[in-house]
Amino acid sequence: KEIVMSGLRPTGYLHLGNYFGAMKNYVKMQDEYECFFMVADWHSLTTHPDTKELKANVRRVFAENIACGLDPEKVAFYCQSHIYETAELYLYLNMMAYKGELEKTTTFKDKVRAHPDNVNAGLLTYPVLMAADILLFRASYVPVGKDQEQHLEMARNFANRFNHRYGDVFPEPSAFNFGGELIKVPSLDGTGKMSKSENQNATIYLADEDDVIRKKVMKAKTDSGPTEPNSTKPDYIENIFQLMRLVSTPDTIQKFEDDFNNCVIRYGDMKKQLGEDMVKFVTPIREKAKAIENDDAYLKEVMLKGAEKARISARKTIELTREAMGLNYF
Ligand code: TYM
Repeated sequence: KEIVMSGLRPTGYLHLGNYFGAMKNYVKMQDEYECFFMVADWHSLTTHPDTKELKANVRRVFAENIACGLDPEKVAFYCQSHIYETAELYLYLNMMAYKGELEKTTTFKDKVRAHPDNVNAGLLTYPVLMAADILLFRASYVPVGKDQEQHLEMARNFANRFNHRYGDVFPEPSAFNFGGELIKVPSLDGTGKMSKSENQNATIYLADEDDVIRKKVMKAKTDSGPTEPNSTKPDYIENIFQLMRLVSTPDTIQKFEDDFNNCVIRYGDMKKQLGEDMVKFVTPIREKAKAIENDDAYLKEVMLKGAEKARISARKTIELTREAMGLNYF
């Protein structure tokens, strides 16, 4: 079986971007591949040094993934900090990463801009830790959203440099999405992507109550509609269609496409429909997740079992890595 690895940071509430960019793929891949999925708590420390909410966030990410259909019996679903082997591989890979390329990473530059007061070395080497997560299981496929593409490219570079220097240990991992292209789920305000921390009013969280979802969708930017048939959609309108393609039926989407092309579209109606379709999608996940989140015994069992499964493969890789590097002295 081919190997799949991916992870999510527990830095806040999961949203539709996380679901359609990543989690939906996890669930589709779990039957066909050997999967390792994790909650990246170490990564969250690079930007969220305050750990007051970490425990609740970690538990919620576990619960929400399971509520979305991830089956801990089929995959290894674990917490990053439970697999110490990750830290060892991270150390070796740090020697394969150049300061210059790390400084040029888009996510690094964004985070420096957002938090100039906390530009720590962990933030700079974030892509190295992520490469360690992936290479630790010698994974070939990494289901992620578009924003992680550059990190994957870096992981491939680190793997290649290692293999070149010490001999083949790591396959080249590639970013993966079932639709082919990696996706970016836009935020409701049409300015960027849905995100855990920015634009909270333009992001639909899997934990949002029905009325909150309806309200957020109704606030999405629109205009008075096209004046010429078959015109190009402005970005903020295209975004609404894009979101509709994620949660609405083909008939519904077609109706509003036709209305747009015939200049009779009513954006109020469209947003109302989109809101209802999002509510229909989110409600069962939110309710299931709430129940799981409060089940201490079950969550503990999932985390312990997941780590146990992950450790077997992780130890093997560390053994191969040390051997390849010549760190076996007797
Ligand atoms: P994170 O926690 O930011 O996001 C988790 C996953 O959700 C995807 N995603 C999106 N996809 C589409 N549209 C959006 N608006 C959107 N927002 C988020 C992300 O692409 C990601 O797949 N560095 C990773 C966590 C990580 C990881 C790893 C991933 C740590 N180690 C190893 C894969 C393999 C991150 O910050 O994801």
